Amino acid sequence: MRKLMRWGLLTAICEIIVYLTLSVSYLKHGGRGSLFAIQVQIEDQQLQRASLSDENVLSQAPGNQRHQDYEEKIILFWFVPYGSDRTIPLEYLHEINNVTVNNNDKEIFVDSKICGKCRLTYDRKLISKSDAVVFYAHDVKRRPQDLPQNSLRQKKQLYIWWLQESTAGVPFRTKVVPDFFFNLTMSVRRSSGVHSPYSTLPWILKMLWNKKHGRDIMHFIAREKNVILTDPERLNKAIHSVPVNSFGAANTDLHQTNAELKTLLDYKKGLAAWIVGNCGNIPSSYLRFEYADLLRKYGLKIDQFGGCSGVPFPIASRWDPSFNEVLSTYKFYLVFENAYHCNGYMTEKLWYNALYSGAVPIIFGPHKDDVSAVLPPKSYIHAEDFKTPADLVKYIYYLDKNFTAYAEYLEWRTWVKFLDQNGELLSNVESDKNFEQLSKEQRKTILKYLNPTPSGFCGLCRKLHDRHNSDIYTIKSVNDWWEGTVRSECMDIHLARKQLASKKIIY
Ligand SMILES: *[C@@H]1O[C@H](CO)[C@@H](O)[C@H](O)[C@H]1NC(C)=O
Ligand SMILES: *[C@@H]1O[C@H](CO)[C@@H](O)[C@H](O)[C@H]1NC(C)=O
Ligand SMILES: *[C@@H]1O[C@H](CO)[C@@H](O)[C@H](O)[C@H]1NC(C)=O
Repeated sequence: MRKLMRWGLLTAICEIIVYLTLSVSYLKHGGRGSLFAIQVQIEDQQLQRASLSDENVLSQAPGNQRHQDYEEKIILFWFVPYGSDRTIPLEYLHEINNVTVNNNDKEIFVDSKICGKCRLTYDRKLISKSDAVVFYAHDVKRRPQDLPQNSLRQKKQLYIWWLQESTAGVPFRTKVVPDFFFNLTMSVRRSSGVHSPYSTLPWILKMLWNKKHGRDIMHFIAREKNVILTDPERLNKAIHSVPVNSFGAANTDLHQTNAELKTLLDYKKGLAAWIVGNCGNIPSSYLRFEYADLLRKYGLKIDQFGGCSGVPFPIASRWDPSFNEVLSTYKFYLVFENAYHCNGYMTEKLWYNALYSGAVPIIFGPHKDDVSAVLPPKSYIHAEDFKTPADLVKYIYYLDKNFTAYAEYLEWRTWVKFLDQNGELLSNVESDKNFEQLSKEQRKTILKYLNPTPSGFCGLCRKLHDRHNSDIYTIKSVNDWWEGTVRSECMDIHLARKQLASKKIIY
């Protein structure tokens, strides 16, 4: 209960921060129009969430909030995400424990105590019954004529603007929908109505916990996405530098103790891996190549895979669990996003290629503020923390030689010992024997980064359950927010280069 109350409070605080941020940007932009008029009763929501978590009271009272929580909400995808392929975007279903995929209709039923109960569907016939209609922004741009008729819109329904790209990647400049069309935004930006990061630290730990207990969520995703799994022989070949017969014991398993961490490290034969396919078709993508060249110039050995190097990564699909197994044989992974300082933009490169695999991320592109909001110190290396590329290379080789110093970057993986049988942070973690032994600083860090804030479709489902019927959400123009409040260097490659040059990071 304490856990959920804390979450409620934190969410409320976040909402206040978002509100303040928006107010400031509203003023900064000369107060043109009402940028974001969101009426949310924060105190009420908080009370509602607190009461939700009170198991005893709830189980005694029929027809109460909990009952309401399990009333199914319908979330309709107006467009099939990413175009033609009828695939459920499983990778964004964070925090969801129990997913039932109905293969014929491609519907997903979500029934989880964190998210509430929701049905995710593509069936447009359900539009009048839907609590939320999700529009993938990229598709809105591509098919503006294919939007629901005005007459179909229901009074209590929320129209959701959803995008998993950076503002530089998809500027959404075109005025394809009239003002006051959407009710909520859902994106990687923290100021979205529903924050939808590619993943979260609690989710990554939970996936690792599940894997340890024989429920490999990667296998589940691979199956649903019809990925042909790599056979063990090919996998062993792919991990050419690792002793074949002992590999299975290490890989991406969770390591609860430092001794177990050492086992993981014994299998790390490679230094730094980088998979990169986009060779620079958007301007800010060039910067990461310049930076990588500088790192090489100062002696960093990078194993580069993908379209730009001509060396294919030995495992074809990133949803094949073997993909992570190969990456886990590297000490570091270059998380070089193809967007510079674009708010909130951190992709599967960070969460799955690096963190989930146990390869320490070396981050270039995402702003430090965005990274430190979601990841604890000593779980990543940020390029802009170093005066020069030469300094970063020196530090990587220092970590390569110093086992203790390197292992500190994987210590977050040992936090699995603070998870309960559902893979969630123990509700009474503060009285846990191991937890009490940690320093005050460490305890604070764990409580801060492992709080289960629902995000992605879990967050949307939660919002649909928590909102009051009288709450009205309106957005005048998504573009005023999406482009109007983004960091300038995200949209301006010359400014980005100037900033990097003045810091001697690129020259
Ligand atoms: C998952 O949900 C289904 C349908 O609601 C239920 O029958 C099943 O017991 C649930 N499984 C778990 C592991 O909670
Ligand atoms: C190795 O790293 C540890 C932990 O950060 C540090 O205390 C120690 O001094 C380092 N050893 C060397 C030889 O630099
Ligand atoms: C959703 O947005 C539309 C257009 O701004 C508005 O008319 C409607 O009242 C909003 N609905 C809710 C439930 O917030």
